Amino acid sequence: MCGIVGIVGKEPVAERLVDALRRLEYRGYDSAGVATIHDGTMERRRAEGKLFNLEKVLDGEPLPGTIGIAHTRWATHGVPNVTNAHPHFVEGVAVVHNGIIENFSELKEELIAEGAVFESQTDTEVVAHLLAKYTREGLDHQAAMLAMLNRVHGAYALVVMFADDAGTIMAARSGPPLAVGHGKGEMFLGSDAIALSPFTNEITYLVDGDCAVLTAKGAKIMDFSGRPVTRKSQISQAATFLVDKGNHRHFMEKEIYEQPEIISHALSHYVDFAENVVKQPDAAIDFGSVSGLAISACGTAYLSGLVGKYWFERYARLPVEIDVASEFRYREIPLSKSQAALFISQSGETADTLASLRYCKDEGLKIGAIVNVKESTIARESDAIFPILAGPEIGVASTKAFTCQLAVLAALSIAAGRARGTITAEGERAMVKHLVEMPRIMSRVLNEVQPQIEALSREIARFKDVLYLGRGTSFPLAMEGALKLKEISYIHAEGYAAGELKHGPIALIDENMPVIVIAPHDRFFEKTVSNMQEVAARGGKIIFITDERGAAASKLETMATIVLPNVDEIISPMIFALPIQLLAYHTAVFMGTDVDQPRNLAKSVTVE
Ligand code: F6R
Repeated sequence: MCGIVGIVGKEPVAERLVDALRRLEYRGYDSAGVATIHDGTMERRRAEGKLFNLEKVLDGEPLPGTIGIAHTRWATHGVPNVTNAHPHFVEGVAVVHNGIIENFSELKEELIAEGAVFESQTDTEVVAHLLAKYTREGLDHQAAMLAMLNRVHGAYALVVMFADDAGTIMAARSGPPLAVGHGKGEMFLGSDAIALSPFTNEITYLVDGDCAVLTAKGAKIMDFSGRPVTRKSQISQAATFLVDKGNHRHFMEKEIYEQPEIISHALSHYVDFAENVVKQPDAAIDFGSVSGLAISACGTAYLSGLVGKYWFERYARLPVEIDVASEFRYREIPLSKSQAALFISQSGETADTLASLRYCKDEGLKIGAIVNVKESTIARESDAIFPILAGPEIGVASTKAFTCQLAVLAALSIAAGRARGTITAEGERAMVKHLVEMPRIMSRVLNEVQPQIEALSREIARFKDVLYLGRGTSFPLAMEGALKLKEISYIHAEGYAAGELKHGPIALIDENMPVIVIAPHDRFFEKTVSNMQEVAARGGKIIFITDERGAAASKLETMATIVLPNVDEIISPMIFALPIQLLAYHTAVFMGTDVDQPRNLAKSVTVE
């Protein structure tokens, strides 16, 4: 949700700020803006829509200056237009902001009563007005910043610049992440370390309640009352990741095709390939002695957690309480210290997931983070970190992070089963062998089903609604298939437990509603086929995603049958995820939507 950057340096900064924004565009792309100070004058350029619009503006009207701040926006308050684009200027103050100022209405009223005139509809503008007011009242810049921070409530990362000080940038964090980058004779600020990776890999992460004052010489960090605090810097790995589409048309396509290699890399962290056993996971959580698990996450990460619930309950006999984080955090769930809690998040910054984590921490539970970004807030606040090692995921629709989350959950549930004596040594070896074979099977599936799915996507593109059905672990997968399809092709899609069909959704079935059934030949196959029959009897068009055994066993006429290899139940969610990702991808490409940056979405949701 919004990406922010700042540079106080010795070379011109405008181009470098835009370069950093490019790496943050996954956080929002409703508008973008940049401001610099040159020869005592502060100027800005802003543009609606994606970053290239801002680049065009800058080509026509370049911005000189060796200090500047910039922003790429995911709109919360106010429509996406130039007036609402950051940086916001008020009387020589420039502000960029990620998050929400919750008490902005009352502050705005108060400021208007004092004569302030607001230009935009944003919550951010109150920050600029407060800073201008305190400066007018005689406070120096740092004191004005601290006074402002003591008035605003909410979740925010702020970066601020004053026109009469071309040597200082100030920043504050209360919620969304903010990283300080240390250069040689220059300093940087960014929403994440990847944004700063071309400039430096020495990073200090601000924590909630930190205010930083940056000059070219270094950073001074204090709390909101001005007391100095010490934060260690670290060497970030972000620079080692190449953010590049390679030969692919979209990042999403690249990320889908990367999965076999990436999963094999992720698995090597959890599995001893020589012995066919799982490695001892982070010992901070003792799966052998916990009485149960609480799992919370959002979106696709939640759906991977739902598959994990089936595995932990079946293989480790561990009861799992799971909910989407936006509900979990407010449900006041009675939890016990004997339970452990797992939070799944690609970005590691999702606001609701983080709030659920803090709730569980306050209840005294041991906390585990299944994250992609190891330096993220969720990782840093956890007792145990289970990295998914997927590398940067740039496509807004999650693909490789989902299957890597599943791979990690599979390995953890086997480790939990071993620790609890519910999986025998022989059982463990058999399951691990399946995990080890998985990357090879994924490669095969991606190559084999692609042409059929690409052709099928042209058919799917004709429909307005699609229903996905599945049972067991194929139920969360059905929901993931629907989520993927709707978010990038904008076709309305729903995922249902196949057994729920006749409790309502069957009323929707007609020839205009394709039903995609995910049914490997597992324990539930016969029952799912019965549900398919109910669909066929009502003229519904069926797309059947099954395996070789399933295809041989079913005699039903379908609109299409996608046949995958026969695989063991422990790896089938990862294998069956591939056709649903490809189907969403090709449908969206065929419909000409913006696959990597679908409308209204952002990759990192740091507001609730
Ligand atoms: C969907 C998608 C989202 C995310 C969700 C959680 O394709 O990517 O549903 O899964 O916003 O994000 P993280 O995993 O960063 O917490």
